[in-house]
Amino acid sequence: MVIAEPEVGKAAVVVDVAALSSPRFAALPPLALYVHIPWCLKKCPYCDFNSHEAKGEAPEAAYVDALLADLEFALPSIWSRRIVSIFIGGGTPSLFSAEAIDRLLAGIRARVPLAPDAEITLEANPGTFEREKFAGYRAAGVNRLSVGIQSFDPKHLAAIGRVHDADEARRAADAALAIFGNVNFDLMYALPNQTVAEAEADVATALAFAPPHLSFYHLTLEPNTLFHRYPPPLPDEEAAADIEDAVHATLESAGYRHYETSAFAHPGRECRHNLNYWRFGDYLGIGAGAHSKLSFADRIVRQVRYRQPKQYLEQVAAGAPLQEDSVVTRKDVGFEFMLNALRLTDGVPAALFAERTGYPLALVRQGLEAAEARGLIERDPAMLRPTALGRRFLNDLQQLFLP
Ligand SMILES: C[S@@+](CC[C@H](N)C(=O)[O-])C[C@H]1O[C@@H](n2cnc3c(N)ncnc32)[C@H](O)[C@@H]1O
Ligand code: SF4
Repeated sequence: MVIAEPEVGKAAVVVDVAALSSPRFAALPPLALYVHIPWCLKKCPYCDFNSHEAKGEAPEAAYVDALLADLEFALPSIWSRRIVSIFIGGGTPSLFSAEAIDRLLAGIRARVPLAPDAEITLEANPGTFEREKFAGYRAAGVNRLSVGIQSFDPKHLAAIGRVHDADEARRAADAALAIFGNVNFDLMYALPNQTVAEAEADVATALAFAPPHLSFYHLTLEPNTLFHRYPPPLPDEEAAADIEDAVHATLESAGYRHYETSAFAHPGRECRHNLNYWRFGDYLGIGAGAHSKLSFADRIVRQVRYRQPKQYLEQVAAGAPLQEDSVVTRKDVGFEFMLNALRLTDGVPAALFAERTGYPLALVRQGLEAAEARGLIERDPAMLRPTALGRRFLNDLQQLFLP
């Protein structure tokens, strides 16, 4: 609806009233906590995450203090809400000692209510730990380990500039499974000069460990990385699609469910923390450059903390860790919801749209009609679920919901 209300002495002002109305939430979504540790031994040439070479010891004690101060600063935004999962990601969180992780988790538990069965994941890189450190993380309360294997092939590990070798990858896989059981391996494919047979061999090695969860990412050239500036000889689109098809089939026949674009799991071992992102749940991100999405009775906000570790520490000390703080507009929220939900093989119940965005599903009616007409989304009024074609051409499907 449009109102034309001329101000005195001015031309009529046209206001789209619908665009100004705010969302309504009957209940707030589940809330997860993300903790960012921004240091690595060395920057990998393909990586655009907020990670920085440690150049000596990372200041772990000061950083844990800052994380807890940061959490305290955020408490008014999440007052009385329970945390359903924690993900300690990076960077390389396994650079931190078990004592630091123990102090961090104890500090979190003392400040926010944590669900008794909360999934608590920590990202570990091969070559940055030993078994005792793992056992220490487990004793601190970490109950899921995500290991950045990337490849078991020495040639490919060298080509992508990893600090670990194939033996370290195997030792890390062994130790993770022995101590945690609940483990994810990150693997990448379409590596420089990689053939289908080599990618299959990587996956066969991973499967021999039988991790309950596997993430399988297409190596992408991200702006502001060394690989973007000096591109290595990557398999072309067709060769990458051949790798993807072969490996997906192998994983599925080995009993893994391809439940999200890049994620495979044994039934019941899906990553709960990530599922919350894809279902447009809330998350508070603390630490350098961490992103948050938080719902309130009448709005959804996105926040980003200062990215550079040094500046982040200074800003937390000054009581102002937020570099960006904005309200998600009605124009963007439909796209943001669909961007996430359509990554899931099973999609989400249609009713979740209104529950999580605070707006009726009609907000994305045009996109839904276009997607249905092209066979990219199921014609099921109870579900928002991509078809097999929609999963293959996910970018095209997602773009139909662009504001
Ligand atoms: C937050 S990162 C870092 C985890 C950990 N530091 C490591 O590198 O092992 C999580 C995962 O994203 C994947 N990743 C990072 N950069 C990527 C890129 N350019 N293309 C595809 N996957 C990427 C890697 O598999 C990595 O393990
Ligand atoms: S270790 Fe992981 S986070 Fe660190 S630079 Fe490499 S890919 Fe990025």
